[in-house]
Amino acid sequence: MYSSANTIFKDRKVLDENYIPPELRVRSEEAEILTRIYMNRLFSNAGLADVNMIYGSLGRVGIGKTTLAKFVAKRVSSIAAKEGIMVRHAYVNAYNAPNLYSILSVIVRQTDYPIQVRGAPAIDILKALVDNLYMKNHYLLVVLDEFQSMLSSPRIASEDLYTLLRIHEEIPTRDGVSRVGFLLVASDVRALSYMREKIPQVESQIGFKIHLPGYRSGELYKILEQRAELGLRDFSWRPEHLTLISDVYGEDRGGDGSARRAIIALKMACELAESLGYDSLSEELVRRAVSENEAASIQVSELEALSVHELLILKLVAQATMEGLEWINTGMLRQRYEETIAELGLKPRGYTQYHVYLKHLTALGLVESRLSGKGMRGRTTLLRLAPYLPADRLVEVVDSVISGKLSDGGE
Ligand SMILES: Nc1ncnc2c1ncn2[C@@H]1O[C@H](COP(=O)(O)OP(=O)(O)OP(=O)(O)O)[C@@H](O)[C@H]1O
Ligand SMILES: [Mg+2]
Repeated sequence: MYSSANTIFKDRKVLDENYIPPELRVRSEEAEILTRIYMNRLFSNAGLADVNMIYGSLGRVGIGKTTLAKFVAKRVSSIAAKEGIMVRHAYVNAYNAPNLYSILSVIVRQTDYPIQVRGAPAIDILKALVDNLYMKNHYLLVVLDEFQSMLSSPRIASEDLYTLLRIHEEIPTRDGVSRVGFLLVASDVRALSYMREKIPQVESQIGFKIHLPGYRSGELYKILEQRAELGLRDFSWRPEHLTLISDVYGEDRGGDGSARRAIIALKMACELAESLGYDSLSEELVRRAVSENEAASIQVSELEALSVHELLILKLVAQATMEGLEWINTGMLRQRYEETIAELGLKPRGYTQYHVYLKHLTALGLVESRLSGKGMRGRTTLLRLAPYLPADRLVEVVDSVISGKLSDGGE
């Protein structure tokens, strides 16, 4: 039953979360720009002192911020090595390293410098780091991921951030050459405004800021194709399978633009095929994987924060999708709302409140709206369930949240 033959996978780790591909087929230009900024200074013998930043879009995850940063750090190292310049790189997830001491410990652990970390004050570790870089004539490029968490953490004082990011002023090297550069990665633009408030000098020091939006379906396709070529057996997949996935997650198609979710969907489809003993994917399997992947992503806590009325409206929109209506107009939806709310023994909310609910559901990204073309009675608003949500699973979850609320006596 459990055969050991890999029918689908050629190299399983290629589909893993932390895998960094040898080349970036998407965002290669951004990678090139950033790499060049660090290289230009190094090659002009001006050392390494730049602080640059990659930041994402509000509410978007899995859009390649970490991947781009790690890729650039590796690339700077390897290009420099070819010219005989030693650039070490270190990766710190600031989320898991909540103060200056732990950040420095994580950095030191990734170098092989003989630095005593335990029990040492942060400033001494930093000095030892600078000394080692000087003595060995090395440079260091530090990726500080989840940088925004450092800005809101009460355990990191603004002074610590200064000390770290303006290390050249705080701890000048003996030969005056700066040897530490930073690549900050932040979730979204708010990091910049926090910085402006909290550490304006550092903010103004950031040389280059790159904003990353969610991926479009064409970009996701290229990312998936690379994984399929490197990780899956030839003939086990077809381009249509990848298109199916990239069309669900592409931001231009109403998806959330996440490469992570697209890759997970592909991996799930492959695992499903493998467990069923198939030697290739099928469209049906891919659809199933996508829908499982989506179901897992419904945020119950988000739904619990809604009122019974909002939940009911959301459910009616989902049911319209299940009936095959692509869009439902607000008039028809209102009628259904009045009927169903009466069945629950509740009174419908007035029109103004009703429209506030619709706006809220749209703002949360659960429902999409657009204006109809001009018809006999002017324009009306059309609604549909956000395409990334699986209607049937959503209805199930919404039903259980509604009944929970009603039994608690809430509306
Ligand atoms: N341009 C790309 N080329 C190849 N793979 C990519 C690319 N962008 C993202 N990926 C893959 O998508 C997944 C998510 O990317 P990554 O972790 O970099 O996103 P992120 O924006 O840092 O996410 P988060 O917001 O959760 O920190 C990873 O497995 C990564 O390898
Ligand atoms: Mg990340």
